[in-house]
Amino acid sequence: MAFVNQLSKRALSTSVLRAAKIQEFVVIGGGLMGAGIAQVGAQTGHKVTLVDLNKEVLEKANKRIADSVSRVAKKQFKDDADAAEKFKASVMDNISTDTTANKALETADLVVEAVVENMGLKQKLFKEYDGIAPAKTIFASNTSSLPIAEIASATTRLDRFGGLHFFNPVPVMKLLEVIRIPETSDETFNAMLAWGKAMKKVTVDCKDTPGFIVNRLLVPYLMEAVRMVERGDASAKDVDTAMKLGAGHPMGPFELADYVGLDTNKFIMDGWSSRYPDETLFRASEMLNKLVADGKLGKKTGEGFYKY
Ligand code: 3HC
Repeated sequence: MAFVNQLSKRALSTSVLRAAKIQEFVVIGGGLMGAGIAQVGAQTGHKVTLVDLNKEVLEKANKRIADSVSRVAKKQFKDDADAAEKFKASVMDNISTDTTANKALETADLVVEAVVENMGLKQKLFKEYDGIAPAKTIFASNTSSLPIAEIASATTRLDRFGGLHFFNPVPVMKLLEVIRIPETSDETFNAMLAWGKAMKKVTVDCKDTPGFIVNRLLVPYLMEAVRMVERGDASAKDVDTAMKLGAGHPMGPFELADYVGLDTNKFIMDGWSSRYPDETLFRASEMLNKLVADGKLGKKTGEGFYKY
């Protein structure tokens, strides 16, 4: 048994060595996740291009990144203001922005897509990029809930396609889920794992299953918390207190749902309940539907389950 393990470890390390190193990558989508992924890439010495059709979104993303890098610098270089300034400048230097991916795609080792959770849009973008990017470029989606295989089906590079799922806030959360579809080659998968480590994240491997690991467990938990309040079993505040003090979570489920965005929670639940109607864990909630219909999407709109 030990011998077999050693052999498989050696085979893995050889294939990691063979995998192309990802040094330059493109992030599609300048929202919270896209900006966070670009920032972490730049902080770890990668050359990153952040792409969004909308110039205002790019400006906001640049500001968000600059603020967040300042927080990181303040922590890392507490007693050395000069070093903090140098760090900030070098990180910002590693990021460029563009309203189209065309130029960056010419040399990119990796494309990470982080646009809105719309299957048609994701497929359209990847189909277009497939015709432009060189053969070496790995494509990956940061989708939180859509099947990677369905997104990949719009391209001709299924062996160079996977999922790279980050967590909000990306500069702080240490986890990266690395997802493979049946066609993902070992070389591609190993290159994604090595990139995750170079991004200073802890990686976990997962198949292309609904919600991967974290959201498969987290989203039904958040929804059950909402249903507890709907049933009148406990108040939102008490459920939050209970999970923070009784289970050691940094945020209670209502604080977290507001933080992630109630529209995102609803989108995931609606998608799953229609895709998997027999799965009892995947059920929408009236309370959540009403808050979203009223534009109360959580922290980002100033009100969700709580007011901010
Ligand atoms: N950039 C840089 N640093 C940041 C930051 C940011 N955007 N946000 C927080 N930080 C740093 C702060 O500087 C601080 O550092 P320090 O402790 O060394 O001084 C540290 O993080 C803690 O921040 P705060 O003191 O402001 O606040 P908290 O202690 O309350 O922590 C939190 C904030 C890290 C968000 C914490 O509450 C937490 O871990 N919450 C749970 C988040 C979570 O579960 N995320 C996953 C959501 S699911 C998801 O994303 C999947 C998707 O598909 C839906």
